This record gives sequence, C-alpha cells and structure tokens, in this order.
Amino acid sequence: MPKGEFRTNWPMLGSWTILDEGEATGQHVVYTQRGVIEHYLDHGSFPDGAVLIKELLESKTDEYTTGTAAYATEVTGWFVMVKDEHDRFDGNGLWGSGWGWAYFDVADRETTTTEDYNIECKTCHVPARETDWVYTEAYPVLNTN
Ligand code: HEC
Repeated sequence: MPKGEFRTNWPMLGSWTILDEGEATGQHVVYTQRGVIEHYLDHGSFPDGAVLIKELLESKTDEYTTGTAAYATEVTGWFVMVKDEHDRFDGNGLWGSGWGWAYFDVADRETTTTEDYNIECKTCHVPARETDWVYTEAYPVLNTN
C-alpha cells in the first residue's frame, strides 16, 4: 500500500458517507491516478493499470455555522482495485473480472488480508457490474463532459 502519496498526488474521484440509523459512522474517499479520469471521459472505460483506492475513515459529526456536518477523521484501511485488461494472473485468487482486488488494514499496509476476491469482493460489487464493477454513479467527475 503506498504511504499516502495518493492523497496529495492523485485526484479524488468522490466520497461516500456511511449512515447507521441516520448517524454518520464512516467516510469512504476514493482516489485514482492522474490520467485515468481523462481516459475514462474519452473512452468510457478504465485504462489498463488504473488503480482505485478507497480509503476508509472514521466519521465525526459536529455543529458548524453551516449546520450539522459529518467529516472524516482516522484512517482504518484501504480497498484497492487494479485494472487488468489481459487476465495476466489467471488462477490467482486476488485477480479476476478485469481487476486485481485487495484490502489492506491500517495495522499492516504491507500485506493484504484478502485471499479470494470472488467471495470477499465480487459478490458485493455485482450491482455495479454494468459499469465495470465500479460504483461510478458517485464519482461526478466521470459523469461530466
Ligand atoms: C459489503 C459489500 C462489499 C464488499 C465485501 C466489498 N465491496 Fe467494494 N464497494 C462496495 C460498495 C457498495 C462500494 C461503494 C459504496 C461504499 O463505499 O460504501 C464499494 C466501493 C469500492 C471501491 C471504490 C470504487 C468503486 O467500485 O466504486 C473499491 C476500490 C472497492 N470497493 C474495492 C473492493 C475490494 C478490493 C473488495 C474486496 C477485498 C471489496 N471492495 C469488497 C461494496 C463492497
């Protein structure tokens, strides 16, 4: 897992606020490399080698002059997808459906805890199958021209 350079060097695609009975309990912030957005807008697809990092953070809610606002605090982990157009790693449990898939906990950024993307990732991404397994509706920068 890169040390965090993505935070300063990569554009943010978008973010999600996770709610539990109306309370914000988590924030997910999604980044990709420079050039991926341009490629997507030109071709309608993610280029080979595109990396999507979804950073998971805790959330805090406070009163501000704008009203009640929830914001991201401590990082807890990262979900990572790497575009692979050529099925280079056939038979490897972390690769398939055109992507490499892995989760890294903040306690160990070197080693993924993911063993089988089919069970641990893919089933949950089925609703996004038509958009190459990515929940593109939440990334406005991909949906404008
Ligand atoms: C419980 C269901 C669930 C599981 C399990 C899951 N995902 Fe996701 N993933 C989602 C949803 C829903 C989103 C978008 C909304 C959100 O973040 O809450 C998402 C978003 C992402 C994103 C941001 C890009 C996108 O697709 O919008 C990445 C990267 C990602 N997931 C990777 C993974 C990887 C890698 C795994 C397995 C290690 C995995 N996910 C497992 C449901 C899941």
